Amino acid sequence: MLLTRLDVPHPPDDWSAALPVVRHLETHGLVFTEQVTFLVGENGSGKSTLIEAIADVCGINSEGGKAGTKYASTGMPLPLGEAAEVELTALGIELLRGPRRRRRGFFFRAETLFNLGRNVSGLPGFWDDDLTAQSHGEGFFTVLDRMVSGPGLYLMDEPEAALSFRSCLRLLYLMHRVAREGGQIICATHSPILASLPGAQIVELGENGIQNATWEDLQLVDDWRRFLAKPGSYLRYVLESD
Ligand SMILES: Nc1ncnc2c1ncn2[C@@H]1O[C@H](COP(=O)(O)OP(=O)(O)OP(=O)(O)O)[C@@H](O)[C@H]1O
Ligand SMILES: [Mg+2]
Repeated sequence: MLLTRLDVPHPPDDWSAALPVVRHLETHGLVFTEQVTFLVGENGSGKSTLIEAIADVCGINSEGGKAGTKYASTGMPLPLGEAAEVELTALGIELLRGPRRRRRGFFFRAETLFNLGRNVSGLPGFWDDDLTAQSHGEGFFTVLDRMVSGPGLYLMDEPEAALSFRSCLRLLYLMHRVAREGGQIICATHSPILASLPGAQIVELGENGIQNATWEDLQLVDDWRRFLAKPGSYLRYVLESD
């Protein structure tokens, strides 16, 4: 583990202070107990806000990218990142706060990945292939295979966005391998496949802030289970509601 705890004792004076997740971090903090943590919750529950703040406070570019390149595009820290406090292990201090060239961290942010690719494909320390010459999902694995490996802190925001069912299983294996290699992963997801990784911590964001959850009890798993068992009842409700 590199990162064991996150607190926001004094939230910034902006929109984020009203989010349940930030109010929770102000009073309770968030403890990371496993090498892989999934952040789940409805659209708008604050997963990306939380993961961007973690990136910022850990010195990883919050717009997606590597450790040691933070604020690369805006030149400005995020207010929530600036207000956040982290507890790092000795390994975390070495790999996130040590000499810039030895830092190990990457933020895989699905929504900005192809912009990042335009700027860094082919540069030393990144990947060689041109992402625009690959399919969406193939491009994801070009980056994941190259950038997410070994000890380091790996942040991901909806990495399943371009992935098929089978590619999600491939990503699940990659996560398992990285955890075994001493890496730590914090991943926002809507995927019941990813969240099923054995031994992972799952935290659910919602109206009441943050709570630890089990895969079996996740709303998202229940929704998929019910839908796949009987799509007709959902479809009737959705399509015949007018
Ligand atoms: N720059 C901003 N200014 C004002 N409000 C914002 C800003 N960024 C996010 N928000 C608000 O914060 C809330 C949480 O957004 P966030 O993107 O963290 O959600 P999320 O859990 O990642 O959702 P999704 O599953 O759709 O990705 C949203 O209601 C959003 O409107
Ligand atoms: Mg999001």
